Amino acid sequence: MSREAALKCGTESAVLWFTGLSGSGKSTIAEEVCRHLRRHGVRVEYLDGDAIRDVFPATGFTRAERDAHVRRVGFLASRLEEHGVFVVAALVSPYADSRQFVKRLCKNFVEIHVSTPFAECERRDVKGLYARARRGEIKGFTGLDDPYEPPPYPDLVLDTTAVSLAEATSRVLRQIEHPRTALRFVQTSEPVSIQS
Ligand code: ADX
Repeated sequence: MSREAALKCGTESAVLWFTGLSGSGKSTIAEEVCRHLRRHGVRVEYLDGDAIRDVFPATGFTRAERDAHVRRVGFLASRLEEHGVFVVAALVSPYADSRQFVKRLCKNFVEIHVSTPFAECERRDVKGLYARARRGEIKGFTGLDDPYEPPPYPDLVLDTTAVSLAEATSRVLRQIEHPRTALRFVQTSEPVSIQS
């Protein structure tokens, strides 16, 4: 089906890819976006890096392992997209090359950089991992002793120190809104703060 035809019958899908440091707010925004899309009848699959790692606990954090993990999830996302499922993915996905690989696989790849600064992610330290990494208990921690390569041309940048969850969600929804798809009436809920 052509893109034009797909749009006409409202089957256009996309892959919304959230990338950013651990604790940046990716999952919080991604989950809220999923809720809004589902409320509007859009079929959505949410792919969360942590949740997928729970299913495949041997997935490590070396460059090669993360690259393989991101590519695998990206491939899955692209297949779901192909079949009309809207995909929302939240992975640290720190390497530009791996994300570029996924982008090439997908038809409508929307790259969202959750750019909350390192210092703020460390201050929040929701899972206590920054403290552990500082103590040397975790090696190769993104932003500390492993690089985070920011997307050079993201579709959207969201710094959660500057925008509320409601505003962040609203910006994502505006980004994907299309006048001829089911996504045209998306609205956000009351403002909710992202983290304490
Ligand atoms: S990715 O780098 O391979 O894309 P993914 O999103 O699946 O990462 O998982 C990242 C999560 O694993 C983080 O949110 C954090 O909870 C945890 N984690 C454990 N070790 C590390 C590490 N060395 N670097 C980054 N995150 C880590």
